[in-house]
Amino acid sequence: MIPDDVVERVRTAADIAQVIGEYVPLRRVGTDFRGACPFHGGKNPNFSVSSKRGQYHCFVCHESGDVISFLRKRLSLDFTSAVKLLGEKVGIEVVDTPTRAHAPDPNEPNWEVLSHAAAFFQAQLRDPDMGRVAREYLAGRELDDEACARFGIGFAPRDGQLLLKHLATLGFDQDRLREAGLLVVREEEGSVRPRFRGRVMFPILDELGRHVGFGGRALGDDTPKYLNSAESGVFQKRRVLYGMHTARQAARRAGRLLVVEGYLDAIRVALGGIEEVVAPLGTALTEEQAALVVRYAPEVFLLYDSDEAGLKATFRSGLELLRHGAAVRVVSLPRGEDPDTFVRARGAGALEAALHDAVDLFDLQVDLLARKGWFADLHHRRRAVDKLLPTIRATKDPITRDLYVARLAEAAAIDRALVVREADEPTPPPGRPRAATGGGAPPMADGPDGPPPPDDEAPAAPRREWVPKGQWKPQWKGRGRGQGPEWLATEAPPRAAASEEPIERELVRVMLRDRGWVERVAERHGPDSFRDARYAALFAALLAHGVEVELVDVLREAHPELTTLVESLLSQAEAPSDVEWSLMKLDRRQLEFRMAELQRRIAETEGEEQRALMQEKDRLARERQALLHPGGKGRNPK
Ligand code: UTP
Ligand code: MN
Repeated sequence: MIPDDVVERVRTAADIAQVIGEYVPLRRVGTDFRGACPFHGGKNPNFSVSSKRGQYHCFVCHESGDVISFLRKRLSLDFTSAVKLLGEKVGIEVVDTPTRAHAPDPNEPNWEVLSHAAAFFQAQLRDPDMGRVAREYLAGRELDDEACARFGIGFAPRDGQLLLKHLATLGFDQDRLREAGLLVVREEEGSVRPRFRGRVMFPILDELGRHVGFGGRALGDDTPKYLNSAESGVFQKRRVLYGMHTARQAARRAGRLLVVEGYLDAIRVALGGIEEVVAPLGTALTEEQAALVVRYAPEVFLLYDSDEAGLKATFRSGLELLRHGAAVRVVSLPRGEDPDTFVRARGAGALEAALHDAVDLFDLQVDLLARKGWFADLHHRRRAVDKLLPTIRATKDPITRDLYVARLAEAAAIDRALVVREADEPTPPPGRPRAATGGGAPPMADGPDGPPPPDDEAPAAPRREWVPKGQWKPQWKGRGRGQGPEWLATEAPPRAAASEEPIERELVRVMLRDRGWVERVAERHGPDSFRDARYAALFAALLAHGVEVELVDVLREAHPELTTLVESLLSQAEAPSDVEWSLMKLDRRQLEFRMAELQRRIAETEGEEQRALMQEKDRLARERQALLHPGGKGRNPK
């Protein structure tokens, strides 16, 4: 057996195009190479080889793999011989340690059956009839056939028997499928059925390219939206990072790795040419995942959503990475955008620019506290230090740690030696205040919560605070919502859909023209129902000021950029559109947003709690249905 890291070194050292070029005449086409496929004996240049990705792929017979699998298949070699041969080519000595040669990984049978299942799902997606709906869905997300092939995306048909039959013809029995996590067994009925049905399938490979599981996305509103393989011997969510198999080579070269939230984010970023990108499977980074990340890149960029949940995940993941010695930077995308929508709308160049503007994790934490006034008085300053110390304690890299110490000492205006001493103390158990300090503010990684800062007697007009790149978020008077504004957005902004913004514009225009509408809208919505920060701010300002105040005058001082917007809204001559209708659309959007949130929680819970959440979601679904079809009790009775 050849140690994994030797295999890895050999593979990384080889230029796949050069190696394959020894066996197949290749011609450069753009950044890739093309030739006739040796596997199905094609005549046309349908066989593509990418040095950058270290992969080959045939668009006709769909053979694909890396340089080692090419040698294995082309020369009919076993894995060890292929690696040895490749080692000779690239000048790395490959020593086979015979002691372990006869102890194959117990998961090998699972990887095998899972890779056959993946091939089956891919074939279903390509099938003209069977795969049509899924292909349409993917096309709607701007993923074409080539992209699907590249990422092995497939489709699990609703009729579960198809998978069973197909795998049976290949000689895999049901036990084998169950072991691999492809079947769900229902004890009571004694029946088995495939776990994934009617879903778009993302194969999940481990960093060595072995199939360990799947993520399945529902096509419509089916729940849950994402379903992963169940935890098992072969699939452990906390150890896997989606995309690592292809990202690691790019990460080694680039010295950096991007961490995004979802499969589709990772795919979009990689399609944009930034291939050093991975996604955890619906969580913040675990310890195991952080360890994996730092094996390939010392510098990590976190691209979570800019809502509160995203910020929490950012801090959790960041601390885990700091513990493993990584340098961590945080990328802020505009509110409501994720890497998928961002790169689709603006291209990978814009993402590079955002990476360039990324802020160091600790800098971000200090800035967030500073902007909320945590360093303004002694009492809060003490607690701010407590919130920040865990980050310094977690930081393994000594130079980074020293920089953080200096940053904190400066921000809090305290002695560096003192910070060092405090940081060297062990982290107190969570939840228990430290007797010595009497403070015990929760660390940042527990979320950006904490007492309202001293200057939070909310100002009458919106004012600036920290917000992602080039945007700004208004601060409004808590209105019927117990507390004032939290750190960032209190809730995740509803997902982008540019076509919906005109409603917000129209509603604000109506309210500006006739201030009587302000209360009417406020009965059903707060500024946080508005996704566009400018309209949210204007609504907040309308709420904060009585009819007697000339809004433009207030705004001119606080937000000159909004003045122009107000002027242009007021100068628009058309009569206001149907306000009730606009309100209904806003209602619907909020409902959908709450449903999505419920869904997220449903996926995380089980049993009684999960059932309760599902009921609540059903209730909202009915409410939404009633809004869409205002028959009997349609629109809001008000
Ligand atoms: P979300 O539920 O936020 O998905 O999960 P999304 O980004 O809104 O989904 P799209 O873009 O409409 O498809 C975020 C990501 O977390 C992972 C998936 O990768 C998903 O894209 N996830 C989520 C899982 O792997 N398992 C889960 O159970 C949930
Ligand atoms: Mn997404």
